Amino acid sequence: MQQTVTVPLGARSYEVRIGPGLLARAGEEIAPLLTQKRVSVVADVHVAKLHIEALQQGLAAAGIEMSAYVLPRGESTKSWDHLTEVVEWLLDQKVERNGIVVAFGGGVIGDLVGFAAAILRRGVRFVQIPTSLLAQVDSSVGGKTGINTRHGKNLVGAFHQPSLVLADTDVLGTLTERDFLAGYGEVVKYGLLGSAAFFDWLETNAPAMAAGDTALRVEAVRQSVQMKADIVARDETEQGDRALLNLGHTFCHALEAATGYSDRLLHGEGVAIGCALAFELSSRMGLCPQEAPSRVRQHLRDMGMKTDLADIPGDLPSAKALLDLMGQDKKVVDGKLRFILARGIGEAFVTSDVPGDLVLGVLEDALSQHRG
Ligand code: GLY
Repeated sequence: MQQTVTVPLGARSYEVRIGPGLLARAGEEIAPLLTQKRVSVVADVHVAKLHIEALQQGLAAAGIEMSAYVLPRGESTKSWDHLTEVVEWLLDQKVERNGIVVAFGGGVIGDLVGFAAAILRRGVRFVQIPTSLLAQVDSSVGGKTGINTRHGKNLVGAFHQPSLVLADTDVLGTLTERDFLAGYGEVVKYGLLGSAAFFDWLETNAPAMAAGDTALRVEAVRQSVQMKADIVARDETEQGDRALLNLGHTFCHALEAATGYSDRLLHGEGVAIGCALAFELSSRMGLCPQEAPSRVRQHLRDMGMKTDLADIPGDLPSAKALLDLMGQDKKVVDGKLRFILARGIGEAFVTSDVPGDLVLGVLEDALSQHRG
């Protein structure tokens, strides 16, 4: 059942291997990269509790020893302090220029450890073993690494591609339903931004996939990763097309900021709501058929996901305040908001040509339901 997607980047090309049982086979998968039978693994405490023994056994089966460093869970781990800690620990472990570092966890661990690998001895290789759906379909692939600062999220980092990604779909079975569905927000995003056929497939298959069907999970991750690989191959450092991956994110970042990056709204939930709002905006601008936003919302609802602003618990600020928060997003170029809009499902494009009052109108209407 295992599938492989190649991210074709010349000398830095690598494979994303997707399937059940990959932790148990981690040793044989990683062995060809090693000059010494030893790896340094960084994990978060939750993932370590659930899965580090399986990883250790998988590595040991191929005679590979591992040492592990365990970090706290959550977004605040992506900090200067934890970066220092990880880099110093990797140096304690005597990881050399040809050594391998393993990032074992969700997006936070992947971003932080990838960045540590990027700067350690001016760059060492690393392997991503993503454990959340979000990390398997998005953050572990494509080489964006970094940390947050007091100025905002992901403001310090580097493009540093992994040497291998192992996405074990069995691990998804230990996610809470909420975390799984939040990650699914990024899966839907791929259909919406670039493939109507994939969106059709999700409408049919995603309920069974979410309920646990392994073959469908492998296929959903494979299709998502393939779409990301194609985009990253065209535009590794986000000079153009890679921005399409940010569909829904301009709205999402404003909502995340408004909810204090708290448990009120997970990133993937914000992406899903943001995609629905981006289609609403596209429709109001006459760019896409009026049915498109309803179809997006219907699918999110069918999946039991947060779909509208009304699904976010607690108070939200005014439409104007949300628009201002959008203006602070790092996707603002020369003072202009950059949006990913769509001409239809699967046909997204990047534009800076969006009248602020239309965005305000979309937000006002969405908020009136929230308050209504
Ligand atoms: N998550 C967006 C990107 O990798 O470009």
